[in-house]
Amino acid sequence: YQSQSPYEAVGGAETIEKLVSSFYARVAKHPDLAPIFPDDLTETARKQTQFLTQFLGGPPLYTEEHGHPRLRARHLRFPIGPKQERAWVSCMKEAMEEIEFNKDWREAIFQRLALTAHNMVNQMDENS
Ligand code: HEM
Repeated sequence: YQSQSPYEAVGGAETIEKLVSSFYARVAKHPDLAPIFPDDLTETARKQTQFLTQFLGGPPLYTEEHGHPRLRARHLRFPIGPKQERAWVSCMKEAMEEIEFNKDWREAIFQRLALTAHNMVNQMDENS
């Protein structure tokens, strides 16, 4: 007997794809996020799908293609302050609500994502 991973419990690839698609639609429109992201979010969304799959205990798709995530290091070239953190977290919260992400898992996964977002903050400017 092996217990299900959160990835399987929340609906696997189909759920991750819906979440990522709803999330980046919001990122593209958010005044605090759009300026630091590329105009075309196709590749960004593809990598995030790979990352979230493994983050939730599914197959290690991100690492297979890109190596160790080193997420904080990969974010250092972008200016991320408390304002961008709040924006990222609010887009994720809304995306989870929109796709009606599994209620039993939503809060725990959201908290882990919010903690990860906090760890990406790399500047403390007054205006960020
Ligand atoms: C890439 C911003 C938090 C996962 C990126 C990129 C930006 C960005 C600008 C580059 C997009 C591109 O060039 O395609 C932010 C901001 C965050 C944040 C402002 C707010 C704190 C997070 C969190 C996660 C995450 C919490 C994971 C749960 C990723 C991944 C990539 C990425 C997997 C692709 C890395 C690669 O190039 O391989 N992020 N991010 N980010 N972000 Fe974030």
